[in-house]
Amino acid sequence: MDLKIAPSILSADFAVLGDEVRDVRDAGADYLHFDVMDGLFTPNISVGLPVLRSIRKATDLFIDVHLMIDRPVRYAEAFCDSGADLVNFHVEADSEENSFEAIRLIRAKGKKTGITLKPATPASAIMPFLPLVDMVLVMTVEPGFGGQSFMTDQLPKITELRTVLDRINPACEIEVDGGINEETAVHAFRAGANVLVSGSMIFRSPDRADAIRRLRRACSI
Ligand code: DX5
Ligand code: ZN
Repeated sequence: MDLKIAPSILSADFAVLGDEVRDVRDAGADYLHFDVMDGLFTPNISVGLPVLRSIRKATDLFIDVHLMIDRPVRYAEAFCDSGADLVNFHVEADSEENSFEAIRLIRAKGKKTGITLKPATPASAIMPFLPLVDMVLVMTVEPGFGGQSFMTDQLPKITELRTVLDRINPACEIEVDGGINEETAVHAFRAGANVLVSGSMIFRSPDRADAIRRLRRACSI
């Protein structure tokens, strides 16, 4: 599948967020990754609906929302209405019944859906949802903060999921989130992920186009 780069705004300068988003778009980003944290599901709080609405007005980039919130079914529609192109939520955050309902609500809004796993969650936990989603997001750090180290023990999970998806839902993308840099990107890509989230590597680089190019180059060798 085509390699896609998704800068995570968590590492952007929020005082000039519109400029940051335009900068990574011009630098060649494919998606914009929007991390939502509620201080309950994660030990950190980030941004939510009003910020998404402002970003939606500032860019035509595909916005991939990553909900790290308890009971995401409560807010699934609101994030669709506020500008998400795809809404990812965590399988650990609610019951199976409510997760199915969240997927139904997102699809009814005409948006793409994604299901996400924390590092300790096995691939088996999301099997029932695989035929229904457009993306699987495999976390390679504990959700909550940018700048953590990539967990290589998540690579077999990526390969396991890609193998199942190739059989039952081949168009479904696998996104990997946490600790992506030139060294780790290639491992994730070779394991079967095609969407690479990168927060600190891209936003802390003075030349974002160069950072995105380096990620692409690392995966093409
Ligand atoms: C972590 C977030 C990530 C984070 C990645 O909970 O979901 O999207 O911003 O940041 P880096 O690339 O710095 O690991
Ligand atoms: Zn994320």
